[in-house]
Amino acid sequence: MLDEVRWGLSRDPKELSPKFFYDTRGSRLFEEITELDEYYLTRTERSLLRRWMPGWIGDLQPHALVELGAGSASKTRILLDAMRAQDAGTLFVPLDVSEEFLHDAAERLRGEYPDLTVRPEVADLTHPLEMSTELPSPSLFALLGSTLGNFDEAAAVRLLSHVRATMGSADALVLGADLRPGPGKSQAQLEAAYDDAAGVTARFNLNILRVLNREVGTDFPLDAFRHDAFYDPEEGRIEMHLVASRAVSVRVPGLGPVSVDEGESIRTEISCKYDRPTLDRILDGARLRVARWEEDDVGRYALVLARPLPLDV
Ligand code: TRP
Repeated sequence: MLDEVRWGLSRDPKELSPKFFYDTRGSRLFEEITELDEYYLTRTERSLLRRWMPGWIGDLQPHALVELGAGSASKTRILLDAMRAQDAGTLFVPLDVSEEFLHDAAERLRGEYPDLTVRPEVADLTHPLEMSTELPSPSLFALLGSTLGNFDEAAAVRLLSHVRATMGSADALVLGADLRPGPGKSQAQLEAAYDDAAGVTARFNLNILRVLNREVGTDFPLDAFRHDAFYDPEEGRIEMHLVASRAVSVRVPGLGPVSVDEGESIRTEISCKYDRPTLDRILDGARLRVARWEEDDVGRYALVLARPLPLDV
């Protein structure tokens, strides 16, 4: 953790890994974000899942659901309910970096779905997946919450390639993708999703400094930083930053003092927004292709079903 912090703060421009957002307080703030009026992503995705998953699962008849970055259980239930209604699946493999999180989620779902076998796997999606569970065919993989967007294009291709490598030819991947501004979504609406009026996202962003102060012994003065989020139309992505409102010197164990100038910003997160050509290119790079693409009525968000392309031998 300290290595990563040292690396990010030695760069120009400075950055911090979004991994450090999610302590207990950070996870709670993130839950709150998903319920904000401005944060349309979660509820739009949820209604797309309700609308399309019963049919897609009916066609695929998967025997297992593999949820990557096992996010909020409320979306998982939509998938599991659709599988139960089809008499299709019996195995659920939630996959996450946080063992504690996985354990809690698994326990809850076991209680609610007595016929389901739950086999959590601790895994970091940025590395090749090593699954201890053998997957039945076909299996349905899910990467929801626009999580893919938190990786730049090269990293997104790598991540999906790891997923593709564990997929069989009869498997499918359902992907939630937030879309670029367009007729049904202004840039201002998109930016508001990452900078809400109540300041929850700002608190979430600043929480990263609290986590670092506690876990790695930095001494970031929280009152010297403010939240900033903006859409970069060239890159097609939201960037979240912490901007210093005065010059500060921060103690970083093993690196010495790091100075942050007044007005200098530290990038903490990216959230890439997609259009069809961009996502086609990323999927193709990972040997996947779009089989279904469904948007909400105003084109804010897409639910995508991807199928494997043959792997080169
Ligand atoms: N992947 C989601 C998104 O990009 C959720 C998310 C990750 C997020 N980090 C965030 C949302 C920071 C708000 C702020 O929207």
